[in-house]
Amino acid sequence: MPESIRIAAIGDLHIRTTVPSAYVQQLIGIEDRADLLLVPGDITNGGRIQEVELAAELFRRIEIPIIGVLGNHDRRTMRRKYFVSVLEEAGVRMLDGEAWEYMGLGIAGVSGSGGGFWPDEPEDPVSNRAWQALAVRARREAARLDRALSTLATQRRLAMLHFSPTTSTLVGEPPVKYWLLGNSALGHIVEKHQVDMVIHGHSHIGSPVGETPGGVPVFNVAAGVTGGVSIHTIPLDPTLPISTSPLMLARV
Ligand SMILES: [Fe+2]
Ligand SMILES: [Fe+2]
Repeated sequence: MPESIRIAAIGDLHIRTTVPSAYVQQLIGIEDRADLLLVPGDITNGGRIQEVELAAELFRRIEIPIIGVLGNHDRRTMRRKYFVSVLEEAGVRMLDGEAWEYMGLGIAGVSGSGGGFWPDEPEDPVSNRAWQALAVRARREAARLDRALSTLATQRRLAMLHFSPTTSTLVGEPPVKYWLLGNSALGHIVEKHQVDMVIHGHSHIGSPVGETPGGVPVFNVAAGVTGGVSIHTIPLDPTLPISTSPLMLARV
């Protein structure tokens, strides 16, 4: 059993016709710097098959376990099962309400949804009808995260989401958009389970580091925010602090 696990993470690659060469450079050889790679959604820009095949080509060249969740852009695919199977065949374990374990670290993954942060935070400027439509999905995704985390009895536990469980990693985005970027139901679940950290994407111009109102550390690893791959080191001894700088970029 290792003493610590190094996690590389990059969200929101939004692959269309090419993968930006800066990201390819950072990802190829990442196995020298990390034990796992997390890709929290919006792997593709439009959910198209040629886009996911391009992503698979990249992921096949990476020699460490890769774990992902779908983002809202990936969910645009008309062929969800096939889309996921292309990633899985390239060695990516896609979590959708499930958990996965690696050497004492458990990862629960779900896309999550928008929905907003009221009443925990100031009311979102959104119509009742739009909010109600999202609220159903928000509650369902939070319940699925709850169930996935309940299956984990590992020393360390991490939640991977596409949407944010807190506004603290959205700072930089226009506040009128917050309700589209996450919801507080997710925050309640990660606090209930006292997870060691949350990784999410989706907010391209938010902030890299935050926490839920109850103090669970949250990292927005959208490539637009971090500039590329970030590395997080998690000691398996829960009394030791997690190295929490997503700004430790694996820049080349
Ligand atoms: Fe995105
Ligand atoms: Fe997104």
